[in-house]
Amino acid sequence: MAELMDRWPAIADLEKRAKRRIPRAAWEYLASGTGDEASMHRNRDGLLRVELMSELCKGLLAPDTTTTLFGQEYSAPIGIAPVGLSGLIWPGADKALAAAAREARIPHTLSTVASSGPETIGPIVGDFGWYQLYPPRDAELRADMLDRIEASGYRTLVVTADVPFPSRRERQRKAGIVVPPVIGPRLVFDGATHPMWTLAVRRHGLPGFEALEKYVSGDSLRELAGFVGASLGGTLSWQYLREVRERWTGNLVVKGILDPGDAEQCIEIGADAVWVSNHGGRQLEASPASIDCLPGVLSQVAGRVPVLFDSGIRAGADVARAVALGADFVFCGRAFMFSLGALGDRGPAHAFEILHDGLLNVMHQTGCSTLDDLRERLVVG
Ligand code: FNR
Repeated sequence: MAELMDRWPAIADLEKRAKRRIPRAAWEYLASGTGDEASMHRNRDGLLRVELMSELCKGLLAPDTTTTLFGQEYSAPIGIAPVGLSGLIWPGADKALAAAAREARIPHTLSTVASSGPETIGPIVGDFGWYQLYPPRDAELRADMLDRIEASGYRTLVVTADVPFPSRRERQRKAGIVVPPVIGPRLVFDGATHPMWTLAVRRHGLPGFEALEKYVSGDSLRELAGFVGASLGGTLSWQYLREVRERWTGNLVVKGILDPGDAEQCIEIGADAVWVSNHGGRQLEASPASIDCLPGVLSQVAGRVPVLFDSGIRAGADVARAVALGADFVFCGRAFMFSLGALGDRGPAHAFEILHDGLLNVMHQTGCSTLDDLRERLVVG
């Protein structure tokens, strides 16, 4: 909508407004990285260093951003990355994101530790849903979860590999959010001073972990949170991934890959795509920027499977930068969550419009009719 675009033309505008409208603890959870946050900042710095050279005098173009992945056509190579405890950031977040993704014809990835479960979100998102798995330690539980994910209509499973151990997240901790999270009086007070957020809580209830509720005896959030900490971490090995591969007949994506050797292993175990990410700088402050790892992974993978990318995307120009370097698809975590904090349920459609319009604009400016053309516009060296 033109009115939204005039008032909030950039993701940075949504970020500023979201910061005012959501409780401080939720903001700290969303916006922070880990440690000195160097890897989070490196993600942005690395992207900003990628330059594109325009090819001029091409006349009026009609750039095409449609992208086919795993046999499905998407309107643009832009997707929604998985975000856990989504309902803390914006109550009802998963439903709003799923509905917007379906409308925009882009993928929405639902986190294992999102506030809503696959049975709720699958029917809303339709063919545009992907499911992200934090690998359960217990094999029976894993089998049950995979059955439920499949029965909910999901055909693409994203296994997150870059959380071998909880990260320290000092800002989050100081704000009273611990992993596993506990909703105490501080957060309740914080909520009372943020009326739009509190209204949304009234409508959607306090956030939990719907996907996991059936595995926990007792339904207090504290017990659930304890379960998340005890049952989902420190599990992943190549053997575990092989077992998931044998069991999951749909598309399998491994998320959090930075090292070319790990990318090779993913291909060896039969992954259908590799997702380059450093978790938005939330796991290891010493990690390189995701964008700086993209070329190495691409050259190792050498076109055998698609290479997806996230970390630090805040504009259509950033999507163009990652695509120019060779990414097949680009995902955003915080950008979509900022949009919910800023504008509530109408946020995600607007965030997509900002990113898509920005991508189209870069294609016009650089003389590119197709996404492949962007790869010729990269300034090298
Ligand atoms: C995440 N991310 C994440 N990843 C994942 O695989 N499962 C999860 O549950 C979560 N949870 C989560 C919560 C929050 C608040 C954030 C910001 C991120 C990581 C996410 O999928 C993605 O990799 C990053 O967000 C990408 O970086 P940007 O786009 O946020 O800069």
